[in-house]
Order: sequence, then C-alpha cells, then structure tokens
Amino acid sequence: MMRHALDIQHYTSTQTFAQEQQKLFGSLWLFAGFTSMVAQRNQFFTRQLTGIPVLVQRTAAGIRAFINQCPHRKSAIQTAPEGVRPLVCPYHAWTFGAEGELRSTPNPALYQFSDVEKSELCLDKLQIQLVGQFIFVNFSNEPLPLSEQFSEDYLAQLETVSGHLDSQIVYSCHRVRYNWKLNMENVKDYNHVPFIHPKTFLPLLKSPPATPPVALPSVVEQLRTAQPPRLSALSYFGRGTLNRPASWFAKGCETYGEGAFYYSWYLYPNVNFCSVQGEHFLLQQYDPVAPGETDYHLWMMTAKRKDIAADFTALLSGLIRGERRVIAEDTQVLEKMQTGFGGRSARVTHGDYESMLVAQHLWYRANVLGEAL
Ligand SMILES: [Fe+2]
Repeated sequence: MMRHALDIQHYTSTQTFAQEQQKLFGSLWLFAGFTSMVAQRNQFFTRQLTGIPVLVQRTAAGIRAFINQCPHRKSAIQTAPEGVRPLVCPYHAWTFGAEGELRSTPNPALYQFSDVEKSELCLDKLQIQLVGQFIFVNFSNEPLPLSEQFSEDYLAQLETVSGHLDSQIVYSCHRVRYNWKLNMENVKDYNHVPFIHPKTFLPLLKSPPATPPVALPSVVEQLRTAQPPRLSALSYFGRGTLNRPASWFAKGCETYGEGAFYYSWYLYPNVNFCSVQGEHFLLQQYDPVAPGETDYHLWMMTAKRKDIAADFTALLSGLIRGERRVIAEDTQVLEKMQTGFGGRSARVTHGDYESMLVAQHLWYRANVLGEAL
C-alpha cells in the first residue's frame, strides 16, 4: 500500500476539524448562494456556513455579505432564512447602512457612545466574489485571489453555464452523519454509480464508466514527483453520455450545451454542481458541522425559462424528490462507513481511476495538516 492517503483519524478527530476550520474553510472561497436569491434591493438570505451565521443581502451598494450578528449583543440581524427587509437589528433596532456601517441607535442617550466608538460599531463584512450567478464568500480578511482557487478557464466556464440558470429555485438541507470529505470523494468517484445506484442513476447513463472521462495523472506519477497539486487542479469538469430523450420542459428553456450529456463541475472544497442534459441543474454543498456531521445543502433549478410566467413549482418538487432518492442511496453507505472508522481502520487504498482523490489527499496533507510530503 502506498503512503499517500489521509489517515482515517482525519475524518473523526476534533483537532483535525479545528485545523480545517482555520486552514481550509477559513481561507478558501466558499459557495454561499445564487445572485437570483438577492435580485432586488434589501432582498437577503441567511445561512450557516461552516458553523458561522452568514447574511447575504443586496444593499444600495450591491450584493454584500456579513456575519449575521449585530455588534451590540450579537443578535441576528435577519432572523428569517430569506426575505426583503433593511439591515435593522430586531433586538434594539440598531440600523446599518449599505456597507454595514452603523446608521442609528434609537434612544442614543442610553448608550452614551462617543463618535469614535460609534464609527467602530459596524457589521462584520465578508469578502465576496461573484462568478456569473455564483456568490462566493471568504472568511479571511486577506483572501487568496479567486483565480488561485479556480483557473481562469474554469471561472469562464462557470460564468457561461451560470447564465443558463433559472431564478426559480428549489432548495433543501438535511443533516447527514459522516465527514464532509467522504461526500466530495464520493462524487469524484464515478465507479460507485453502477453499484450504489443501479436503479436510479445508472439507467440514465449510456454505458457504465469503464475508463476515466478525462486524462488523469496516474497515482504512481503523482507519488513519484511527491509534489502536492496546485489548488486549482482540485476543481475540474467532467461529462458522461446519457441515454435519455429530451425532457418535456426543455423546449421552454434556454438549455446549456448540446446533446445528451451529464455535466459535473467539482468545486473544491465542498461543492458538486451538475446538470442533466443542460435542462436542469443541481448544486450540492457539503457543509461541515462536526467531524462526523455534515449539512447537505441542495439547490435545483431548470435552465432559464423562456416564458417567465411559466410556473415550474411542481416540476422542481419532482426533480428534487428524485435527486434526494439518489442521495439517500449514497447516505446509507457513507453513514455506515463513518460508523466503522476507529482504531482498526488503516489507510484507504486508491487505484489509478481515483487519482483525483489522491490529488485531494496530497493537497490536504501539505496545506491543511502542514505535512512535508
Ligand atoms: Fe452516488
């Protein structure tokens, strides 16, 4: 067995989890949502992102992201998951301006803040980057350039495809009992499809995957050079051929691409964005809650409707139900795996088709664990 994979303890240890929070989720760009969720002035959404409450809101200045906490006593500024409402703390009605600066505090005589004190009381603003409709945020004050995380070509591709996303979105979040890394490894492992999804996903595919869809560096080659990959190499695109006719709704939409393909864009660290035939799209995000717990976020939408009056509510609820069935098949295996992790779990073994998993492990060992490879 080759020594490249992460020890199993890194899927269970609280110490590793803390290291990840700092070196990975605390420094990389993280997907937060779609621009269509904040289309109008004062429209917002809130969510937990790696345990931190985040508020994304369109202010007079544009789309802004803040820690969803008032500088006063840390009440949430927006308490609903989504809505349209100005930046006003519901607790004591402090109000904030377009960049999160403090505007007013009712009953100012009660506080006796000096002007200097007041100027320091503002919302904690996060760095934000838009790629087409994708909103990314970063918890670091001096984040790495987005183009270091995703190559320029890849960003251009994401921007193009995001132009096809409809604004009617269906969303669900459920908690699963396994480490988030297992899910990112699972979606990059196309060889599990015939065995885990024989009745759901497999019938869609023209032929079960037998050879890698893209030219991959071999495991041996990666280990010979003993160099961790570039961060941007961990995010890549793949597609497989589908065995299905166009859906009834496709002609009413501005579909992406040409032909019967299943498209996947892996966005390191924790996003899988896919499309079935460019007709509908799904974005999965595996948000860490604890070493053995992950929030599984799922957004789905069709390609952009040509007729904005068309209502796809029923279609979308059918699509998300189908997707949740496939996910449940993975969950059963991954939760059982996590339960078994312990003292008798040695390292995992990777074959050549899993070389993108190897790349992830090597990068993680060098950059999160700080190991010399
Ligand atoms: Fe799967």
